[in-house]
Amino acid sequence: SAELWNSAASVLETNWAGDHMVPSRRLYPHQWSWDTAFIAVGLAYVNPTRAWRDLRSLFEAQWPDGRVPHIVFDPAMAEADYFPGPAFWGVPSYGSRPAHGSTGIVQPPLHAVAAWEVYRRAAAHGAASAQQARAELEWLYPRLVAQQDYLTGQRDLGGGGLASIVHPWESGLDNSPAWDAALANVPADLSLLSVYRRRDLAVSHAAHRPTDTDYARYVGLVISYRAGDYSDTGLLERHAFAVECPSFNAILGAAELALAQIAGVLGLGGKADTHRERAQHITSAIVARLWNPETGMFHARDVRTGRLTAARCVSGLVPLMLPDLPAERVAGVLDAMRSERFGTPVPSYDRTAADFDTMRYWRGPVWINANWLLRRGLMVHGLRDEAEDLRAAMVRLVHRNGHFEYFHPETGEGLGAPSFSWTAALALDLLA
Ligand code: DGY
Repeated sequence: SAELWNSAASVLETNWAGDHMVPSRRLYPHQWSWDTAFIAVGLAYVNPTRAWRDLRSLFEAQWPDGRVPHIVFDPAMAEADYFPGPAFWGVPSYGSRPAHGSTGIVQPPLHAVAAWEVYRRAAAHGAASAQQARAELEWLYPRLVAQQDYLTGQRDLGGGGLASIVHPWESGLDNSPAWDAALANVPADLSLLSVYRRRDLAVSHAAHRPTDTDYARYVGLVISYRAGDYSDTGLLERHAFAVECPSFNAILGAAELALAQIAGVLGLGGKADTHRERAQHITSAIVARLWNPETGMFHARDVRTGRLTAARCVSGLVPLMLPDLPAERVAGVLDAMRSERFGTPVPSYDRTAADFDTMRYWRGPVWINANWLLRRGLMVHGLRDEAEDLRAAMVRLVHRNGHFEYFHPETGEGLGAPSFSWTAALALDLLA
């Protein structure tokens, strides 16, 4: 509807900060990595110049080793505006970047998929805008490749062809039950929280956010990674958390397929084949390492113990995005998605689990970005009717309740931050 379209566009107008988009003015006042990808998908409809600007701002902060930081800090904000802030991360200067410009961890590499979507939209508008968008792709392509090389190289801590995350924040699904088993080995030093005050609780409801125990572990893991200058060499011996996430790695695989398309547009045909091969390798590794035949879905693997988590989380459905996923795995994921454990729209966690929490972040609520990825998966496998049902359910949810960060999985009530950028951006894509 025109009303929803206009409200979405106005959220993106309000949250634009000159050269980047903030996810939300109060709760997340800097630039976040995977948010930038989802946001670009929506900006492509209303302001493609800003979509490219936002992606560029993010990749201008790329580290020399190829990692793209999960937050790029806005120097205009104060340390007290967000925790953990720039000084806490203590990232040294690199390239032409000043010290304290970013964090040292990553987020899911959805940017190639986003760049390809923005390009496609531009190309539909004629030769002139296609030409401009192609120039943006030219700038981004080597940087996107460096990001993939970092994740499939230094971050293959398990040695099986998948990227490990070394902090729950890297998944984007911060407090998902997927990490509970691996986090049980991470000390929760609550005294850290009397030294460092949580800022999120001052600007949102405690019941909607991760707990203090979660935060004590999050802070401890930053301190641990920071102590080794964010190096990944020998990390398993000195860092308590390393996990292979099915959703992160599915996005890693989808990124290779988007890079194949981009390489094609840039006239790099040979590279396109390499990207498609790499996508196949990632898909095979996800199937070999993260599939649980008993639950019939994908699960996070603790690299330190080799064990799959028992929790059934939305991240275990996201490999549906991969076109080369074998048919019997596709069927398994679809069965799980259609079962009473999930259903439409898909919640972040198994509805039948004893610790399903309707309010708390990634432990139950419905998130539009996760559902958007699943809708892509349905379309990739030719399930048009189901994709359309999911699209309609998302549009209804946002239309009735507003552009919230996430939603109560039973009542649809908006939770977390209002006027949340990726919800608005993806609403535009779902309406278009
Ligand atoms: C937060 O601040 O909650 C973010 O998700 C961490 O990146």
